[in-house]
Formats: sequence, structure tokens, C-alpha cells
Amino acid sequence: MSLADTAKSLETLTKIPAFLLAGSTKDRVVYISNEDGPYSLWSLDCKSGSKLKMTSEPVEQAATPRHECNEVFYTKDTAKGAEFHKIYKNDTIQRKETLAVDVQSMRIEGLATAQDMIAFTGATKEEMALYTAKSGSLEKRTKLEALAALTDANPNYLVGYGWLENNPRSNELFIFDLSTGQMQEYTPKLGSVNKMPVLNGSRILFESDFTGKNRLHVYDLERHEVHDAPCAFSDHLAYDATEHPYFDWMDDGKVLFVGKRDGEAKVFIDGRQVPTSAGYIWGATLLNGKLYVTHTTVIQPHRILEIDPQTSQTRVVVDNQLPPGIREKFKQRQSRLVRYQSFDGRNVPALVVDGTGSPRRTITYIHGGPWSEVLNSWERFVASFILMGYNIIAPNYRGSTGYGEDYRNLDIGDPGGDDLKDIALAAQWAKENGLATENAIVGYSYGGYATLLALGKEPEVWSCGVAGAPVADWKESHQMSDAEYRSFIEILFDHKTELFEDRSPITYVKNVKKPMCIISSQNDSRTPMRPVLRYAMNLLDQGVKFELHSVPEMGHLWRTSEEILSVVYPTIAFLQRQFPA
Ligand code: 4NP
Repeated sequence: MSLADTAKSLETLTKIPAFLLAGSTKDRVVYISNEDGPYSLWSLDCKSGSKLKMTSEPVEQAATPRHECNEVFYTKDTAKGAEFHKIYKNDTIQRKETLAVDVQSMRIEGLATAQDMIAFTGATKEEMALYTAKSGSLEKRTKLEALAALTDANPNYLVGYGWLENNPRSNELFIFDLSTGQMQEYTPKLGSVNKMPVLNGSRILFESDFTGKNRLHVYDLERHEVHDAPCAFSDHLAYDATEHPYFDWMDDGKVLFVGKRDGEAKVFIDGRQVPTSAGYIWGATLLNGKLYVTHTTVIQPHRILEIDPQTSQTRVVVDNQLPPGIREKFKQRQSRLVRYQSFDGRNVPALVVDGTGSPRRTITYIHGGPWSEVLNSWERFVASFILMGYNIIAPNYRGSTGYGEDYRNLDIGDPGGDDLKDIALAAQWAKENGLATENAIVGYSYGGYATLLALGKEPEVWSCGVAGAPVADWKESHQMSDAEYRSFIEILFDHKTELFEDRSPITYVKNVKKPMCIISSQNDSRTPMRPVLRYAMNLLDQGVKFELHSVPEMGHLWRTSEEILSVVYPTIAFLQRQFPA
């Protein structure tokens, strides 16, 4: 394929929109989509099927919409990708945006609303804190001594979770009592991982692994009692989810949740499984007795489905067909989850995409996070490799989500250590199992970091590599970070800052021999460009063949289809030159 044809195909591919459910208001289903360029908030009238784009500029995060009104609250980045946010309010029917909270130089993470109050957690260079705002007037409620995010609010309480015990391997809930101004910490068992509390009066629904497995529980704030989440049916027990990426109270006091296992997901109402085909489910919401979910697979872009919970009758309300020219390239391709044994006998799950008919040059794709995973879900890097005819292996190396908290915690105090060994063994598995003749390594963010480190520490395993938004030097990244990301790095390293040098790609840059492509954005405030440029100067001095792409007016996250293309196109163009399939 000529470069011009590649560019054209990738432009079509990166314009395929995502549809991510945010919830529902009184009358509308609300979702975030880049259907029209920027990631905007959209509202859907399910009866007529009419869709309304509510914002022309990119939206970052929406607070869970409420059924008592048609208003939604959300954040927008005001610093061209550097992630300084302001909070806006809009009406899902009338489409009227107003600035709701004006803050300066603050990264806003958790956002929730209750009646006329907005609550959020925000980080500046110096500190993290919990805030409320009413009628535009802002109040700092309490400074946060540990990394934590708000997840819900009602007129009496603000709740969230984080590393309140300063134990990198546990998470505790926080409950801020608005009437007394007191901050309370709750954990059913010290050392357990407790996440994403949502309120129903004085009852808190949350996920916890204190029984040994991630399960949903309810903590009663008045009775000081914890019990299993109420479920009249027991399908979820048979399903045995490893995690619950989404859960909330329904208007009738029952519980709606998504359970995840082995990269797939199912949705449950009151414990009863709603039939959906294989794939992943990003969010769910009930409106007027109908269930709405975002469904996707590796080869099927996100669609919004409407399901009648009584009859299981399913209707696609927002479709997303692969465009002609792209569709043919996906026809024969299949994805599957494999498990291979790592150096210490541990089983590592990996997503494999084959169907090309023969072993060939293969991409080892490294997801970011590191507390994230590759799912049976549409993913733009994976989709662009499929388009170009590569086989793919994407390891869920130790530290990944989706396989229990013990597995997720394995990279704490050891980033770029045993996880990197898992990654190299994924490439070896691909060679030994008829997938790969050679391997290239590609990743973004933590995946970009792992790519740089792999090319320096295991130059013989890889033919070449592409690192997007990488960490090149933990010490400099830590110094340049705001309070939130400083804390994130300290948790990841289990406070062993003396490991920074040993785990930084710049320490091993002298060993790099294979061609490399680096993509970094000028306004990236999570993985800043400055240390990346220092890394590239070393490559220059050593005479390594490398490409370096600087993306101006862009940050760490992708806000528009154009920004997606500005990372995906240089990735594929480099691979086409150095490593054609
Ligand atoms: P991401 O990874 O979640 O994949 O974006 C990150 C890696 C490093 C840092 C932040 C995020 N950091 O602060 O260094």
C-alpha cells in the first residue's frame, strides 16, 4: 500500500466513532462520542432515534446524569491538552452550555452533583483537595493527604476512594459529612481494595475484595453494617466476575452492574444476567424500563443497544458499521484470549488477533495504565494493525486489571521489572506458536515506557518499536508532575524512589540498536516531552535510526479524531517502512 493510501485508510479508520454511555437524564440517554470530530457530549431521544450534539469543543469527563432533571455537568480541558479543567453545565434537550465552576490551573478528576451542588476532587502542582461549589461560589472542603477521587455526592455526603492508608496495595473509601465537615475513612478490612462508592441515602454501594474476590457490597453509614449488594437473582454468582467496571443503584433501589472476566463483560439487573453477545460492555443505563448498553468487540466498533429486560429483545439504537474498504480487512480476523507461562510459572493472559493464514511479522502491543488491560473491545491501535495485515499479541502483563487485585498489585514496587519479562515472553510465545516470524513492540503511555525500556534492555527480542507518550526518565517525570501524578508514581514505585534510575529507559539508551519511532505531545502533563527529547538526543549521538514526532497543541489524551490520527499515522507509516507485514 502506498503511503498516500495508508493515510487515507487510517483517516477513515480513526474517524470511526466511539459511543461511551454516560447515563440517562429524565428523558434522554447521554453518551460521549467523537462522531463529529471532537469527543462531545450527545443526547439521544430513544423513541425517535434523534441524536443531539451538545458541545462543539472536546469534553473530558461527565458526572453521572440524574433522572430528576435534564441537566448534565462535565469538564472541558482549557489548556490545549495540558488538562487544566473547568466545569460546565448543559441541558440535554435545549443544548445550552454555561460555565458552572471556574477554577485556575487545576486537574479535575472526580465530578458529581447533588441538587444545586457540584463536588469534585482536583489537583494543582502543590496539592490535591476536595471541593464543592454552589451558585458558582467555590469552597475547598478538605485537603487530601493521599491520592483519592470523588465518585458520588448527595445533599448529605460526598464519597470517593483512594490510597487513604498510604498502602500502595489497598484502597479505602472516604465519606465526607457535609453537615459536620468531617472526613471519615472506611474499609471493611485493612489491606483490602475498595472502589467506586455510590450513594443511596445513607447506603453506599461499592466494590471490595475483602472476602477474597472482588464483589459488590453495601455499607450502611447509620447502622455501621456491611452486607452483600442486594440481588434477587443469582446469575452473577455463576458468572463469577473478577471486576465490576460499572455499577449503580436503580431508581427502585435495586442494583444494575457490569461484570467483567477474561476481557469480556456481561450486564446484570438485580443479579439477573441480560443476554448480550460476546464482547465488552462500556457502561449501562436504564430509562423508561429499557436497558441501554455500549457493546463492542475487537472487530466491531462501539454501538449502543437497547434491550427490553423482560423479553431480551434487542435493538441497535446507535449503529456503527465498518466502512467499505475497511470491512474487508476485518472479515477473516479473529481475536482470542490465550494464556502463557511466564519465567516464574505465573499464567499471563494475552489477546491474540490472527486469521492472516500464516505466521508473519507481528506486533506485540503494550497497553497503558499500567492498571488497565486489552479487552475484547474496539481499540484504535489494534484496529490499525489489523487494517495493515499484522498478527497481534497484546499481553495483559502482571499489573494489568481484570485478573484480580493480587495480579494487579504485582507491579507495585516493580514497574519495568517482572512485567517487562512477561512482555518479552509474549513475543517468544508468538514465535513458538505459529503467529510471528519477527516481533515489533508498540505502546502508548505506560506501554510507550515499556517499549523504550524493552528496546534498551532486550534489543535482541525486537526488530523495531514505536513508543507513544513514553516515560523516559522517572526522576524528571516525577519532578515535573502535579500533586496527583507525583503521588501516582510514588504508589507505583511503592515509595522506592531509589529505583527510579534502574527502571528508567534513559539508563539503557546506550544499548538501543533497533529502529525506533517516538511520538510525544508538547502539552502532555502526564508523560512530559522534555525527558523524551533528552532520550532522543542520546539516540542521535549514538547514530541509531529513529523518527521523532512532536505533536503541538495536544496533550496525553486524545480529544478529537484528528488527534487520534496524529499518533496512529506516524506509528503505521514507520512500521510500513521498517517492518511491513
Ligand atoms: P497511562 O500511563 O495511564 O498509560 O497514561 C502513565 C504512565 C506514567 C505516568 C502517568 C500515566 N506518569 O505520571 O509518569
